[in-house]
Amino acid sequence: MNYTVKVDNLEKLRIGCLVIGLFTDKGYTPSAKTLNEAGDKFIGKLFRRGDFSGKKGQTLIIHNLTNQFPDIAAQRILLVGLGDKDKFNETVFEESIEAAFKQLTSTGAKDVFCTLSEAPLDGRDLFWKIRQEVIMIEHCGYQFAECKSHKKDDMNNKLQQIYLKAEHRGEVALAEQAIREGKAIADGMTLCKTLGNRPGNLCTPTDLANEAKNIAKQFKSMKCKIIDEAAMEKLGMGSLLSVSRGSEQPAKLITLQYQGAKKSTDKPIALVGKGVTFDSGGISLKPGAAMDEMKYDMMGAASVLGTLLSIATLELPINVVAVIASTENLPSGKATKPGDIVTSMSGKTIEILNTDAEGRLILCDALTYCEQFKPKQVIDVATLTGAIVVALGHYLTGVFSNDEKLQQALVEASKQSHDPAWPMPMDDKFDQELESNFADMANIGSRWGGSSIAANFLGRFTKNFCWAHLDIAGTAWQSGSNKGATGRPVPLLTQYLMNQSSSKHDTN
Ligand code: BES
Ligand code: MN
Ligand code: ZN
Repeated sequence: MNYTVKVDNLEKLRIGCLVIGLFTDKGYTPSAKTLNEAGDKFIGKLFRRGDFSGKKGQTLIIHNLTNQFPDIAAQRILLVGLGDKDKFNETVFEESIEAAFKQLTSTGAKDVFCTLSEAPLDGRDLFWKIRQEVIMIEHCGYQFAECKSHKKDDMNNKLQQIYLKAEHRGEVALAEQAIREGKAIADGMTLCKTLGNRPGNLCTPTDLANEAKNIAKQFKSMKCKIIDEAAMEKLGMGSLLSVSRGSEQPAKLITLQYQGAKKSTDKPIALVGKGVTFDSGGISLKPGAAMDEMKYDMMGAASVLGTLLSIATLELPINVVAVIASTENLPSGKATKPGDIVTSMSGKTIEILNTDAEGRLILCDALTYCEQFKPKQVIDVATLTGAIVVALGHYLTGVFSNDEKLQQALVEASKQSHDPAWPMPMDDKFDQELESNFADMANIGSRWGGSSIAANFLGRFTKNFCWAHLDIAGTAWQSGSNKGATGRPVPLLTQYLMNQSSSKHDTN
């Protein structure tokens, strides 16, 4: 899709479709006002006759405009309900874009002038609205068709050009930057979704490693290094290797380095991703229902790769190193058994009481591996616990940290990017549950507070870092008829890194 900023008034505009938002009450946006006047109180009549109420998500396409609107040169008008003006928020804004673009796919419009950015949104400026429009439009156009023998053709493939409304000439440069950012974030999300939606047989640890190499090839600023099981053995990654033991697919440790800062010596921010390409639970086998969704157990890895694509596209002046631990978790005669004790790269020993708590087992070695990069901060991203879904649902990502400032900065970035996240507690009480009679620690505690216990397990390996952990088990994908990866938390992470790269004075 091509995006261009436009300040023109909607009259005289030769275009496939005008998109205009309407609130339920009288608050007309400038374009709604123009339309109302151009069409002899057209909107007032529409409301009075009961053909349109403006309730959120409602759409109406108007054809044959010449008689009703002699001054409007567009082929169609698409009205979109924005709901009550005083209840208008980020979610309604996004839903209205979604409603509009779903509707547009059933038309033959080739180009569109979207004026939804005119709707006033508390605390959000034009820049934010344009950026979010681009992200949502790309999201609406996304489909995972790689494995269909007949590509779906219900999309309006004719739609190629979107004009996005800005008020004044003076806003154009900023709005263009918003388009660039929106496109970069959307591209990162698309990569993240596609890697996630691929089935486990087509997205193995080796496949993920190849994807990382491909990303690195696209940018001079990136380099990629893959570590195989023999090298892991040498490094003493007994914990990571204990998870891959049951699988025929070899584990991979992927390092993708992005140098955006002028100096390669600037300390990087490390992003660590859980890349379990299928989690059956291992010998502690999961129940069968919805087990297919455990192909999404690599969304931490996918979102880290997506974020690197976004920041490299934006050429952010910052150094970032991504470390991804990737493996399958399967049962077999060779698989790790409950009660087995392994030695992690840090030298600490772990009693594996449940082979289904494998995420922390691979992340602890990836975190120790990070030490060589002397990172100024480490953020790991993982579909780590079912417990976080109980706590925060499918709406919020859980943010754990050993540094309150970092935790707050991540929550702030989640608000800015409207990729919601919430601070979660780390407390010694949770940590005590990891005591083992036979090793330095067990890999599980009790059921209650499971996501905080898991975070504390990771916390035992990050004492030397300013560290945060994002548990995305509830937010990385959707189940049911809309089953699919969401592309989260690419917006949060990209926003966080943008904030970091613009606040150089930050000593963190
Ligand atoms: N990948 C799962 C977490 C998960 C479960 C994500 C459901 C999304 C939906 C993780 O490896 C796991 O199995 N965690 C266990 C830990 C338990 C054994 C302590 C869990 O949450 O049940
Ligand atoms: Mn598991
Ligand atoms: Zn898992």
